Amino acid sequence: MSRSAHPAGPRHADVLPEGHYSAPPADLNVLDHKVWAQTVGRDEGGVLTVGGVSATRLAEEFGTPAYILDEADFRARARAWRTAFGADADVFYAGKAFLSRAVVRWLAEEGLNLDVCSGGELATALSAGMPAERIAFHGNNKSGDEIRRAVEAGVGRIVLDSFQEIVRVAHIAQSLGQRQKVQIRITVGVEAHTHEFIATAHEDQKFGIPLAGGQAAEAVRRALQLDGLELIGIHSHIGSQIFDMSGFEVAAHRVVRLLKDIRDEHGVELPEIDLGGGLGIAYTSDDDPREPHEIAKALTEIVTRECEGAGLRTPRISVEPGRAIVGPTAFTLYEVGTVKPLEGLRTYVSVDGGMSDNIRTALYDAEYSVALVSRTSSAEPMLTRVVGKHCESGDIVVKDAFLPGDLAPGDLIAVPATGAYCRSMASNYNHALRPPVVAVKDGEARVIVRRETEEDLLRLDVG
Ligand code: LLP
Repeated sequence: MSRSAHPAGPRHADVLPEGHYSAPPADLNVLDHKVWAQTVGRDEGGVLTVGGVSATRLAEEFGTPAYILDEADFRARARAWRTAFGADADVFYAGKAFLSRAVVRWLAEEGLNLDVCSGGELATALSAGMPAERIAFHGNNKSGDEIRRAVEAGVGRIVLDSFQEIVRVAHIAQSLGQRQKVQIRITVGVEAHTHEFIATAHEDQKFGIPLAGGQAAEAVRRALQLDGLELIGIHSHIGSQIFDMSGFEVAAHRVVRLLKDIRDEHGVELPEIDLGGGLGIAYTSDDDPREPHEIAKALTEIVTRECEGAGLRTPRISVEPGRAIVGPTAFTLYEVGTVKPLEGLRTYVSVDGGMSDNIRTALYDAEYSVALVSRTSSAEPMLTRVVGKHCESGDIVVKDAFLPGDLAPGDLIAVPATGAYCRSMASNYNHALRPPVVAVKDGEARVIVRRETEEDLLRLDVG
């Protein structure tokens, strides 16, 4: 992930500090579509536009900070995944990346299914009209109430994560006179090359039932015996922000081997496998993510080959991309409040948001890009750190980035690729008000999640 230090100095520094940055780009005004939403450009005055709407108009109309989401790009990415996997596979958008009712409607219209992992996500999906049979319900500790609501609604599948849950879901389904379709989530023992907090298939963590020691096979045995359950498949999710397909290859190999063992022991061929989400996106121009059609081709080939080898019919495949669909479609728009050059170090640029709207830098040491968007500039690049307004020195939005040397309070800057896990992980730290999500399309902008108000905060405070 890290890039090497570059000898080119920031305007205010004679000695370069240690950091994860490469050379300043040749032209800071260029907006690289690897990291920016597809309809982003600049108008003749140099102002960033997205979906035909300018950043200055968005800031005036909706305030800052704000998440600006390119609806056409979202729909195009969703469709690209759907088309790439075709009619013999299912694409479940992972709602944890970002979920709102508008997003649910777009997904339903584009033919995608939805993965939810809490009662709140389930309620959002159902209230926006996603047909229940197109919903998969996840989570490592679903409450009895959540399970009951999911079964009553008629969700297409519940993904079972523990031995206790196998029994819990079976009892609840039976008490409601239903037979619930389920998958069992297994951990295949793959070390995904990503941040430790978002790797999920090695054995020493909380998700799934380990293949090792025959535990997954035992879970299958128990699920097959229970009347309230219809076991339709095996689920594996190896982690998030992954570029290397080899982890999926090993996971598919191990899942298919389990399917073969199940066939040999029970005489049943489970009809589905789910390989989870986790495909990486570009946060900086140095990242090279794969296209959905390449991923679909690679995964389908792996599963087909493994099944042929094991003498099994190829099961229906499903995948659960979250970040890869919504991540690149949005940026966060901020106004610069202060610009503080620290001699010999770097220039600290404070914006009107911070770790409350993007915790990923503090939590995962994530890298982001940033650009001046209310104008262009031909000033020399300066090395900056973009920080928020919270009472914490770790409140960093972009650790190391070059911005024009004439950056000043009142300028608008934007951080691209913040569509996934930013609004959905936003907090009220320091009683910050969570920013709105504004969808833009064909010259129109509309709020799909409104900005929080102080009344919202005070309404919860009933002491
Ligand atoms: N399916 C399952 C079962 C998952 O647990 C996840 C993500 C996904 C699909 C979607 O993964 P994606 O395609 O979005 O990578 N907050 C972290 C990411 C946590 C991911 C949790 N599970 C981050 O900001 O990087």
